[in-house]
Amino acid sequence: MLIKIVKASDCKESEVCSESLYLSRRRFLSASLAVTGSSLLPSVASAQSSSADVLPSWLQHRQRASYSGAALAPNDSVAPYAAATVYNNFYEFGPDKDDPARHAASLTVEPWTVLVDGEVERPGRYDLASLFHEAALEERIYRLRCVEAWSMVIPWLGFPLASLVQHLRPNSHAKFIRFETLVRAEEMPGVRSPFALIDWPYVEGLRMDEAMHPLSFMAVGMYGGAIAKQNGAPLRLVVPWKYGFKSIKSIVRISFTREQPRTTWQALAPDEYGFFANVNPDVDHPRWSQATERRLPGGLFERGVRDTLMFNGYGEEVAGLYAGMDLRVNY
Ligand code: MTE
Repeated sequence: MLIKIVKASDCKESEVCSESLYLSRRRFLSASLAVTGSSLLPSVASAQSSSADVLPSWLQHRQRASYSGAALAPNDSVAPYAAATVYNNFYEFGPDKDDPARHAASLTVEPWTVLVDGEVERPGRYDLASLFHEAALEERIYRLRCVEAWSMVIPWLGFPLASLVQHLRPNSHAKFIRFETLVRAEEMPGVRSPFALIDWPYVEGLRMDEAMHPLSFMAVGMYGGAIAKQNGAPLRLVVPWKYGFKSIKSIVRISFTREQPRTTWQALAPDEYGFFANVNPDVDHPRWSQATERRLPGGLFERGVRDTLMFNGYGEEVAGLYAGMDLRVNY
């Protein structure tokens, strides 16, 4: 992030064929097989070393549910694991794209608890296994469009946010959900830095109907294995129709609120970053166009620039959430 101071697409993911997707599938398969202890493929061990770590033990025996929601477009291909884990935004570890990969290894993710509070019937401090109770694990392959005008396609593992909300039972006063990231200065150089502009903790939020939308997702894994620390281990939000800054990482607190939460980027630069932050090619950032984006990683001979799609291509699924709203005002 720069600081101043399908639609359900034409073709299903299963019909997309590209080298990088094929390679990613191999990694998925390898990691899954490693998790279930199978030794069917001799390549498992070597493939896994360039891929995600195995899932944490509480996830290894979770039932898997298949998902038949939003699909990828024909020109979408999954970013290689190496790309998705070296080019990151995670300001707690520093402002440069490679800072998270360089520094996040020091983050302690076990044990991990999440405080649930506010307008909810089941408040408390939960470990991850009890937070997600008996929900089945799902795989979602989503486009992630950063407000800085780059994008990647990343395969996540996790649970629909709606299933978590239902489990926690918000009361009728709950109109928004507020999420908060861990603040642990001794493990986070960005938090220690005297030059950081962010007022920690990093905070994000959703309206309740957005949170209940089937595309809103809590990721606990990626590429068939554990979620990398630089990508928000052990728990992050993924809201694919919104700019990436809404997808808050390393969540330690979930609050159900009556009022719209004050979110990090909106508080920092309200003229530049809104609460809704829906991907919108028609509403430019005050300092750059949002009409196009650079798909990462680019090829050797192409910059990979493409048109940005309304709601990041998920308009068919989510446009109804904003019926009657002026999206230039509610950016
Ligand atoms: N969450 C926290 N806690 N801190 C951050 O700096 N950056 C956001 C989002 N979540 C951020 C965060 C931004 S700007 C983006 S684009 C995405 O994470 C990037 O996710 P990725 O690094 O997994 O691609």
